[in-house]
Amino acid sequence: MKKFLDLISEEMKNAFQAAGYDRELGKVTLSNRPDLCEYQCNGAMAGAKLYKKAPIMIAGEVAAKCEGSSIFSEVEAVNPGFLNLKVKESFVADYLKKMAGETKFGLEMPEKPSMIIVDYGGPNVAKPLHVGHLRSAVIGESIKRIARYAGHKVIGDIHLGDWGLQMGLIITELKERQPELVYFDENYAGEYPKEAPFTISELEEIYPTASGKSKEDPEYKEHAMEATFKLQNGVRGYRALWDHIIRVSVADLKKNYENLNVEFDLWKGESDVHDVIPGMVEYMKKEGYAYLSDGALVVDVKEETDTKEVPPCMILKSDGASLYNTTDLATIMERMREYHPDRIIYLTDKRQDLYFEQVFRCARKTRLVEPETELLHIGFGTMNGKDGKPFKTREGGVMRLELLIKEINEEMYRKIIESRQEESEEAKQTAQIVALSAIKYGDLSNQASKDYIFDIDKFTSFEGDTGPYILYTIVRIKSILAKVKEQGELPENAGIREAGSEAEKALMMEIAGFNAMMETAYAETAPHKVCAYIYELANAFNRFYHETKIVTEENQERKSGWVALLLLTRDILETCIDVLGFSAPERM
Ligand code: ARG
Repeated sequence: MKKFLDLISEEMKNAFQAAGYDRELGKVTLSNRPDLCEYQCNGAMAGAKLYKKAPIMIAGEVAAKCEGSSIFSEVEAVNPGFLNLKVKESFVADYLKKMAGETKFGLEMPEKPSMIIVDYGGPNVAKPLHVGHLRSAVIGESIKRIARYAGHKVIGDIHLGDWGLQMGLIITELKERQPELVYFDENYAGEYPKEAPFTISELEEIYPTASGKSKEDPEYKEHAMEATFKLQNGVRGYRALWDHIIRVSVADLKKNYENLNVEFDLWKGESDVHDVIPGMVEYMKKEGYAYLSDGALVVDVKEETDTKEVPPCMILKSDGASLYNTTDLATIMERMREYHPDRIIYLTDKRQDLYFEQVFRCARKTRLVEPETELLHIGFGTMNGKDGKPFKTREGGVMRLELLIKEINEEMYRKIIESRQEESEEAKQTAQIVALSAIKYGDLSNQASKDYIFDIDKFTSFEGDTGPYILYTIVRIKSILAKVKEQGELPENAGIREAGSEAEKALMMEIAGFNAMMETAYAETAPHKVCAYIYELANAFNRFYHETKIVTEENQERKSGWVALLLLTRDILETCIDVLGFSAPERM
C-alpha cells in the first residue's frame, strides 16, 4: 500500500505538472508550523530560480490547480511562496479503513527478501551477565524483529564467547581446588560423569577468582594458557569439563534471556569454528593475503584514505594460538557457506568499532564475503548511572543483570500496588511485564550510538516518554473496548469514520504514518524511531480520549466508528511494542 505522504506528494506533483512546472517540485513534507497547516510544500520557492518567476505566483497557480482535489481540503499560497496544506477528513478515513483491512497495515513487502544474520547478545560463558550485555541483547532483539516484520529472513545468533582464555582459567582453578577429579587424570580412559562437578553459582565465583589470581601470579596465568591450549587441542578430560561448563552456563543464560523476552535462533559460539580455522589460515596464506610479521600471521587492512592508523588484522599469534578476530573471520566464512547472508549485523559496545573495521576489511580483502555482502557493526554507547559514570551497584561494583532486573521489578511492583492498594500474585506478574517495558524502552528510545543515563525513577514512571506510559495507554484502550462490549451489540460496524474533531483527525494522521515509520526504522536499523512514533501516537490518542466521551456516546454509528479507530490504534501500538521486544498486560 502506498505511503500516506507519498499519496499527498503525488497529488501535489500533479498540480505542479498541470500548472506547467516540473512535477518533482511537488514534494510534500510534514508541516513545521502545525498551528497553520498539516503539511507543506516548498516547491514554488525552488521553482522561482528555475522559472525566473516570483515564488508566490507559482504557488498561486499550483493552488488553483488543486481545486476539486479529493485529497486536499485547503491549499493556501502564502508569502513569500509556501504552500500550506490541509487534507480532507474523508481521505484520511479512507486510508485508515484500507490499512485496517491489509496485512501489516499495508506495509509493503520487499520484492526479494534479504537474508540477514543478527549477531547479538555475545555473552561470555561462565562469566555472569552484566549490564553491558543488556544493550546488545535489547537492541539486537529489536533490530531482528523489525527486519523480520519488514519482510526479511532473519536469523539471530548469540555468538557465545566460549573458547578463550577464560575457559583455561576456570579449568585451572578447578584443578587447584579439586585435583583429584577424574578429568585431570591423564591415564583415565573411561566415561566421564554426567553430573558437572560445580553449580552455576560456584562457576560464577570461580571465574572472577581465577581471573584475579592470574593477574597477580604469572605462573598461574601460564597454567591457564596451557589449559586453554590443551582444551583447544582436544585433550579429553578438558573437553569433558568444558562440556559441563557450557551446559551449566547455557542453561542459566537461557533463563536470563527468556526473562528479557530475547530469543536466539542459533546458540553458536566461537568454539564452533575451531575446526575450520586451519583451512581458513591455509587459504589466506596460499592466496598471499597473510604474511608473517614478528612471528605472527597478519593481513594488512589499511587503506590510503585512512585518517587514523588501522593496524593489520592478526590471524594467528606467534605461538600459533587463534584470537578473537580469528574466530570472527572463520564465523563469517561459515555463515557465508551455510546461510549465504546478504547482510550480517553485529551489536557490541562502540569500543569495538576499530576492531570490527579491521575484521570487515580483512573479510572483504580475503574474499570471505562477496563484494555486495553488507557487514554492519552497530556500536552502542555506555549505559551510565545518574552520576554520568558507567552503571554500578550501590556498593560501586559491576551491576549484574539479574540484580538490576530484580530492582526494577520491585520498584514497579511498589508503584502498582500503591495505586491499587492491594497485593496479589497477578500484580507481581503485571509488575514484571511493565518493568521489562521500562528497561527496554528506556534503552531503545535513545539513538543506539549515544550513551544514556539509566534512571530507574524516570524509566518506571507512568508519565512521559517511557515504556510504562505506552503500556498504560494500551491498557486504557483495552479497558474502554471492554466497557463498550459489556454494553451490548453495536450496530453493523461500518468501520472508521471521518474525524469529527481536531484531536481525532490528529490521531488518525498519526496512525497513517505507520508504514513510512516502519520502513525507515528498518532502513536505518533504528528502533528509536519506533519509540518516537509510539510516543507521539500515544499522546495523540490520549488527547483524543480526554475530549471524547466514548463509552457514553448515544449515537451508535459514531460510537462504532470510534471502536474501529480504537482497535486500529491498539493493534498498531501492540505491533510496535512487539518489535521493540515487550508486551502489554491486560490491566495495570
Ligand atoms: N563476547 C564478546 C564480548 O563480550 C562479544 C561478541 C560480539 N560478537 C562478535 N561476533 N564478535 O565482548
